[in-house]
Amino acid sequence: MQALRTYFAGIDAGSTYTKGALVDDRGALVETTVDMTGINIVTATKKAYAQLLEKAGVSEGQVAYVIGTGYGRYRITFGNTQVTEISCHAKGAHALFPGTRTVLDMGGQDTKAIRVNDRGEVVDFCMNDKCAAGTGRFIEGSARVLGLSLKQVGTLSMNSSNPVKVSSTCAVFAETETQEQLAWGNKLEDVLYGIHVSIATRSIGLLRRVGIDPEITFTGGVSQNPGMIRCLEEQLGQKLNTSPLTNFCGALGAALFAREKYENTTGTGRSAA
Ligand SMILES: Nc1ncnc2c1ncn2[C@@H]1O[C@H](COP(=O)(O)OP(=O)(O)OP(=O)(O)O)[C@@H](O)[C@H]1O
Ligand SMILES: [Mg+2]
Repeated sequence: MQALRTYFAGIDAGSTYTKGALVDDRGALVETTVDMTGINIVTATKKAYAQLLEKAGVSEGQVAYVIGTGYGRYRITFGNTQVTEISCHAKGAHALFPGTRTVLDMGGQDTKAIRVNDRGEVVDFCMNDKCAAGTGRFIEGSARVLGLSLKQVGTLSMNSSNPVKVSSTCAVFAETETQEQLAWGNKLEDVLYGIHVSIATRSIGLLRRVGIDPEITFTGGVSQNPGMIRCLEEQLGQKLNTSPLTNFCGALGAALFAREKYENTTGTGRSAA
């Protein structure tokens, strides 16, 4: 009879979305999952874990170690331990793009700039000060007042040739300003792109504080927004590493830490294939 494979899970309980990642005993990514966190983090994390296993066709008994990360990591009731999202994003980004030296994680509530070494370990980091102005929430608020989806906001902003200057430094005021800009006759795509420029400028300020060494990997939910990728690349004058998987860097990093911790504990250390 063939022995069942062993897996390792990472659950990233973010302020906005809860993400899950499953890796196998060689550290290869097997499955991911994402859903809104909502008002109950405990429920969201349990649901994410169940969905992850179901999608992968893996039983709970096959998962040897689970690590929680993100804003709600201490609310994960089934995990073995927790690791900060800074370390997890660094590790996940390095796993996807081994040349990564700088990580920009733009989430719903926080934006973090992280400098990493050639092993994907954190050397320095810096984050925004709990203000939504430089984060995904700023985009979410603008999408809401304009009745657009997140996908539409990013995509429409790509058509801009003359971004409107957003002067509000507060996300709440920016929502009102967005409507005013439109009332003054500015084009929707220019107002939307102006919002992206404002967020990108703040993020680049964070990146400068840790140092901008190539390659830069853009992680978090906002890395799925083509308008923000364009805006950051224009302002930085260099390409960013992104992919559909960069949304899962925190969860992937946590799953890879889970594998390492398990192997260190059991002495089963083997190198990644
Ligand atoms: N498919 C998508 N297209 C465009 N933008 C998206 C998409 N999915 C998520 N986002 C953006 O990503 C943000 C959420 O990112 P993420 O899931 O990384 O946040 P989080 O981890 O919950 O938050 P935090 O790390 O700040 O606690 C949203 O506010 C939204 O702006
Ligand atoms: Mg996050």
